[in-house]
Parts: sequence; C-alpha cells; structure tokens
Amino acid sequence: MLQKVKDLSEEISKISVKSPEELESFRIKYLSKKGTISVLFDDFRNVPAEDKKELGQKLNLLKQSALEKYNTLKESLLSSEDLSEKTDLTRPSFPFTLGSRHPISIVRNEIIDIFSRIGFTVEEGPEIEDDDHVFTKLNFAPEHPARDMQDTFYISRLSPEDSNPEDILLRTHTSSVQIRVMQKQKPPIRAIFPGRVFRNEAISARAHCIFHQVEGLYIDENVSFADLKQTLLFFAREMFGKETEIRLRPSYFPFTEPSAELDVSCKICGGKGCNVCKHTGWLEILGCGMVHPNVLEACNIDSKKYTGFAFGMGIERITMLKYQVNDLRLYFENDIRFLDQFKTSL
Ligand code: PHE
Repeated sequence: MLQKVKDLSEEISKISVKSPEELESFRIKYLSKKGTISVLFDDFRNVPAEDKKELGQKLNLLKQSALEKYNTLKESLLSSEDLSEKTDLTRPSFPFTLGSRHPISIVRNEIIDIFSRIGFTVEEGPEIEDDDHVFTKLNFAPEHPARDMQDTFYISRLSPEDSNPEDILLRTHTSSVQIRVMQKQKPPIRAIFPGRVFRNEAISARAHCIFHQVEGLYIDENVSFADLKQTLLFFAREMFGKETEIRLRPSYFPFTEPSAELDVSCKICGGKGCNVCKHTGWLEILGCGMVHPNVLEACNIDSKKYTGFAFGMGIERITMLKYQVNDLRLYFENDIRFLDQFKTSL
C-alpha cells in the first residue's frame, strides 16, 4: 500500500489540464467520494496497527497535495480564460498598421522638397507677432483694412481705434517671416517660410480661422520678374505634373510691386473646363510679386543695389487641388476615416 501511495502522488504531480472538463475529471478520479484517494482511505482500515501511523501520515499528505494540485490547476485555468477574454486572438499580429501623415504635412513637405532642390532654405518665425512685422514694415498703410479687427486676432492693442507697430497679434500671413529674415540676413537671401496663420473668419467649407501658408523670398542683385516666373513654373510642374501651364494676372499687395496672382491649368479637365475650375480651365494658387523698395529699405537693404521677388501660397488650397478635398473643415477634425486615406512615405 505504501508503494500505491507513492505511485499515486507521483501520478498526480504530473497531471495538467487544458479545460474545465479535464479539471472536473481530475476531481472525480482522485478526490470524489468514490475516487482513488477515498478508496485508499477505506483500505486503510484493514492495515495492521503497527503500520497505521506511518501510512496514515502519508495518506493525509497525499490527500492534501491532491487538493492543492486541484486548486492550482483551477487557478491557472481561470487566469488563462481571463487572458483570452481580454485579448482578441483573432486579430492579425503582423504587419502592424502604420499611422498616416496629415495631408497638410504631406503637401507642406512636398513644397519644401521642391524648393530645396533649387536652393531655397527653410526659415520659421513666431506665430504671435507684432504689428510692425505683420503690417508696418510690409508697407501696409496705417488705415489698411487688413489690420482691421475683422481680420486680425489682436492679443494686446495700444489703442482700440488706431493700429500701432507695438500691437501684439496672431500673424495673418507668413510674410512677417520675410521681414525677420531680411532683418537678420544680408542678401543673397533665398528661403521659404512655412507656417500657421490666423484670420478672424467664420468657419465654413471655404474659410477657416487657422490655416497654413508657405511664403518664398529671393533677394539678390539683378533678380527679375522673369526669375519669379521661371521659379513658379518649375514649382507648378513639379507639384501638379509636367504638362501644367501657368498664367500670371495683375494683382495688388502692399509689399510687392508689381504684384500678380498665379493660376495653374486645371489638371482635372486639362484646361477644357470643369466644376473644379468653374469652367475657366484655370485654378488660382498663389500671390506674388517683386518686393516693394519700401520693404527692402525698412529692413536696411539697399533697394538701388538689390531686388527680389516674393510669393505666398495657402497649403490647404494646394492640398484641395491635389486631393480634391473641398471642405476645409476636414483638415481640422482629425477624423481617422479621412486621415487614413493619405498613406505616403513623405
Ligand atoms: N501674404 C500674401 C497673403 O497672405 C501672399 C503673398 C506673399 C503675396 C508674398 C505676394 C508676395 O495673401
């Protein structure tokens, strides 16, 4: 009988279970009223008195370890059940899905990439600016409507009636960086300035109070309007395709003279006319011009010696044209279903 007890305890120690059913058969086989251990206890009655002490101890130990085994098996079964409840084992493990870049970032990076290939560096400036850098040094007359409260978010204003170069505001365009760069660098200057800008507009599909611009500036001796045109043609063809045509229409900005707006041929209809280009065959993408001598002088650059061109575009506008997204609000809502469509390496 001693041997039987020994064999049984070895047998029990080796058992493992994979399901509640197997656990239950373990209990029935060893621990139930008719189980192996109870049977041994029955047999124990017939053991000679002199063996009872040793065998009794061994039997009790066997029963105890069988009970303990039962409890540990039960616990391990429960914790693995727990795990399978929390982990969805049907989910694919590889490859992990990567996030995607925001379309505005994709297009901004593409613009930076195109201009860096023709020698433009990237400069940034503060979003919180003063009137001096956003308006005054850019040749805006004191009563210019762009300074008005309707357009500009003021942070602090010296006088509610008049603008003052010391007023603090959110920049309404990235042209302020033009001024900062001209103040700290001597020509030749060839740089682009990407950044966020702010205008006090009601939010709709076509307007937003926050948007993104990239401004470009090239100052050197003998920079001409022909250089501007060629630079913009290069940009338009890199951005919208080799067959893209451009046209320049006269325009007005206080800080450029002459000023122009640049249209690109509509790539949806190839210039024939469609809904996107409102049947004109052309899409407006940016404002540009030759830097006004007053702006150069305000930054201590000799306007007799140096000339330059500047241009500025809205990234949202370029992105709209590239991806046919016609509601500006989508760019700010961060809806995964929208963002997920822009997978790219840039
Ligand atoms: N700053 C102008 C705007 O926000 C764009 C522009 C930049 C025009 C540079 C001409 C030259 O509309």
